This record gives sequence, C-alpha cells and structure tokens, in this order.
Amino acid sequence: MKKELSSSIEQTINTFNEKLASIASLKELESITPQFLGKKGSVTALFQNIKTLSLEEKKIFVPQLNKLKVTIEEAISSKKIALIQSIEKAAELDEQSFDVTAYKPFDGHKGHVHLYTELIEEIENIFISMGYDVWDGPYAETEYYNFTALNIPEDHPARDMYDTLWLNKKGWLLRTHTSTVQIRTMEKQQPPLAGIVPGTVFRHEAVDASHDIQFMQCEGLFVDKNITIAHLFGVAKTFLQKLFNKKELDIRIRPGYFPFVEPGVEIDMRCPFCTTGCSTCKQSCWIEVFPGGMVHPEELRMAGIDPEIYSGFAFGFGLTRLAMIKYGIPDIRLLQSGKISFLKQF
Ligand code: PHE
Repeated sequence: MKKELSSSIEQTINTFNEKLASIASLKELESITPQFLGKKGSVTALFQNIKTLSLEEKKIFVPQLNKLKVTIEEAISSKKIALIQSIEKAAELDEQSFDVTAYKPFDGHKGHVHLYTELIEEIENIFISMGYDVWDGPYAETEYYNFTALNIPEDHPARDMYDTLWLNKKGWLLRTHTSTVQIRTMEKQQPPLAGIVPGTVFRHEAVDASHDIQFMQCEGLFVDKNITIAHLFGVAKTFLQKLFNKKELDIRIRPGYFPFVEPGVEIDMRCPFCTTGCSTCKQSCWIEVFPGGMVHPEELRMAGIDPEIYSGFAFGFGLTRLAMIKYGIPDIRLLQSGKISFLKQF
C-alpha cells in the first residue's frame, strides 16, 4: 500500500506538471482544477485512501498529500497570473505596433454610404416631395411619451405588445417605436402638421434572422382640418409606388389594432417582385408593410390639439423590414453587422 501510494503521488504531480506546461489560455486553465482538485479529481481520489492507512502510515502520507494539494493550487494560481500578464503584454504590443501611416494598395473598392443611409434618404425625398418635414426624437424616453400619451395607460394590456427595455431610472425606457415623436411634435406645434420620423427603436427580443433588439422604423403624422382615412391610403400607395418604382403597385387594407389610432389598419402592398407568388411574399402575392390609422381623438386632446376641429392620420412602418424586402436581405443581423463582404454587394 505504502509503495503504491507513494508512486501514485509522484505520478499525479508529474501528470499535473505536464498538463500545466501545455496550457496556453485561461479557458484551458479553468478545466484543469476539476481534473485534479474537483470531487472526481485525481488528488481527491488519493485522499480517499487515507482511511485504509495505519496510524504510522497516516503520519507519513497525510502531510505528503496535503503538500501535493497545496503545490497544485499554488501552481494553478501562478500560471493564472502569468497568463493574464502575457495577455496584457500582447495587447500593449498590439497597440504600439499600430501604424497609422501604413499603406494598403487600392483594391478597387471605394466604399459607399450604408444601405440604411441610402434608403432613409430615398424615403425622406419621397415624403419631402409630398410636403412633409423630417422630425427627430430621443432614444431614451419616458413611459409617458412611449405609452401613456399614446392612449396606452398603465396596466393597459397593449403595453404587452411591446417587449420593452426598461432603463435603471424609474419610468424611463428605450423607445419601442417612433410614435413617441407624434406627441413631442404635437405638443410644440399646432396643425397643419405633416412629418416623418425615420429612427432607431429598441425591443427586448430574442435575436434571430428576422428579429433584433435594435431596428429602424419610420413614423408618419399628418394633422389638419378635414383629414380622412382616404388620405392615408393615398399616401401609402403613392409612397410604396415611388419606393419600389412601380406605377401599378396596388395596396389592400385590413383592420389592425393600435390604441392610438381609431380606426386602425394594416396596409399590405402587392408583391413588387412577382405576379404569381415568390419567396419574398411567401407565395401570397401580398406583403404586410404599412400599419396606420386615424389619430385617436384622446391622443390629440392629450397633446393639446382640439379633436373637434382637427383630425389626422398616422403610420409607422418597419424601415428595416422594407430594407430587407427592397434589397432582398435574408437576415436582419447582416444590416447592422458592418461586414465588408456584405456591404460590398450593394
Ligand atoms: N407604433 C406602432 C408599432 O410600432 C406602429 C404604428 C404607428 C401604428 C402609427 C399605427 C400608427 O407597432
């Protein structure tokens, strides 16, 4: 027994030293502790032999085993320090060797504005040609502008439609839609009002090919005397025809629910790419693109506009979604990735 244990101790330390020497990253280092000191580790197994030893043997082996354990623990922590130091040193060297004057021969690719920038400019130009202004608003918003003033009071189930990212400050959030800017504008200006708000919005989404926690919408608001839903349909149709450069592009209207519009609608456009069904329209020939409706009188009232005199329409389409459809992009993550191989294609 004595002999066996002695050679096991020696073998364990040798194996440990060998393994430790081959470790080159903190991640690899993490896995070595359980191999030796964990519940099923080899040192732990050696300790289990103690109960079978005589008193005399215990006097010899217990200190040896303890020493083995401490040696291993210390070696792991020294290795950890050494690895951290070498990572820091490499980062420092990297920084020092960054040459701002380095010359790379021209590879024929000049770069261009990002797809989003291009599309936003195109959308802005279409709406500006119809007499609209372009408005902007903050990303960090209050509950009031994102929900309450849009006729979604506290505890209203419609708040669940928006997977909200709340900020640490009570009552503050990252705007879940660009509709916040409707209120901010109406509070400042009396009708006639016509404007769009292309901008980023945020939602607490599980990221996949068609969902991201950050994407772009474009809000639209038109308030004046005698505005009807027919104006909204006309604007939606004209906009989509111009954007897809197709004179005959038709729209269809279905009811939709948003607490800040009444009635609310979902406007679909005829697929601009096919006549008999394709993968973009999922073989249906129609694509859902343009939610909107007549601004709810309660919302007008809350923003200081008299609903007895004025009426208006609002819409808020997914700008990211339109970009994906227009440019045939299959995965939303590519748009924000900054990948040169992707961007070069446009
Ligand atoms: N803000 C709505 C959304 O993000 C879209 C919308 C805007 C609907 C304006 C109607 C009117 O879901």
